Amino acid sequence: MPVYTFRIQRNWKTDQGTLESHYRDYTLDVSATTTVLLALEEIKSQQDGTLTFRQSCRSAICGSCAMKISGRTRLACKTHVGEVARDGVIVLAPMANQPVIKDLVVDIGPFYKKVHQIRPYLDDGPEKAHTLDKSAYDQVNHVTQCIMCGCCYSDCTMLEVSDDFVGPAALAKAFRVVSDPREGQKTARLQELSEPSMMWSCSRCAMCVESCPKDVKPMEAIVKLRTRGMAKGFVDGPGAKHALAFHTDIQKWGDLNEFTLLQRTVGIMGAVAELGTAWHLLKKGKIPSPIPHTAQGVEELRKIYQLLEDNPIDVETKAKEVVPE
Ligand code: SF4
Ligand code: SF4
Ligand code: FES
Repeated sequence: MPVYTFRIQRNWKTDQGTLESHYRDYTLDVSATTTVLLALEEIKSQQDGTLTFRQSCRSAICGSCAMKISGRTRLACKTHVGEVARDGVIVLAPMANQPVIKDLVVDIGPFYKKVHQIRPYLDDGPEKAHTLDKSAYDQVNHVTQCIMCGCCYSDCTMLEVSDDFVGPAALAKAFRVVSDPREGQKTARLQELSEPSMMWSCSRCAMCVESCPKDVKPMEAIVKLRTRGMAKGFVDGPGAKHALAFHTDIQKWGDLNEFTLLQRTVGIMGAVAELGTAWHLLKKGKIPSPIPHTAQGVEELRKIYQLLEDNPIDVETKAKEVVPE
């Protein structure tokens, strides 16, 4: 059997309460199809009983064993050693975007606090439908697979720079409720989701789609929520304004008018606040031209826009929407 090196980030709190950290190597003879979790259990039982990590179901169901494995957040019980070894080395670290408690264990409290921002029950109200059909089930089916493991939260690039962002799992859960025909307050929920730090804070980097072990595709849910929010008229925030500016420019010129994009996204005062950045860009010769550029073949684009306006498709789901009776 091949010998693998498990390079594990050891973390511990000092008596003063600060977090100390270093990497320690452990070698193990295991087959390439051994799971990372089994390897960790072996290391703990045979080499170092102080090594700390979470686990429970061993079947990719409970979400406990999520950790950074060779740079990406994965479930240790679902990941084979051979898949993630680089030159025989597997690097393990705790999940990101959450406070580390010890070794590979993080405090999942902040993650759950965000998830709890989304009311987990269906509200009664005027938008409640009384019939269900398969298409309604199809649009939320994959979202219901979420096991709250936090892999998406750990790999989310927006959470790296903004603690306030509610995060991909919470938004996937919100989509699940908003898309349920039995939800009676869809519009009110979309209004809440249009607030700062909610659906428009996502940068659409797709890391949550990549890292989700259950194929929930949170980013797709976020995009659908945005479409629904805009369709309900929630277009006052910078995110929606930014999207509308793109829509207008591409229809008009086939290209972005980047010179005015910032002002159309955040307003004149917001643009004034960015004058320092503009000055920096000017010095580097990177200020875009104020004269809009018309792309070659823009007439074809306009025809596509016209076709879409004449034959609107359901961009939210590409499936039949169940409407309230
Ligand atoms: S797509 Fe959005 S929610 Fe998903 S990881 Fe990127 S920033 Fe986070
Ligand atoms: S969306 Fe996927 S990665 Fe995120 S918590 Fe749910 S199952 Fe885990
Ligand atoms: S131990 Fe439950 S998901 Fe891995």
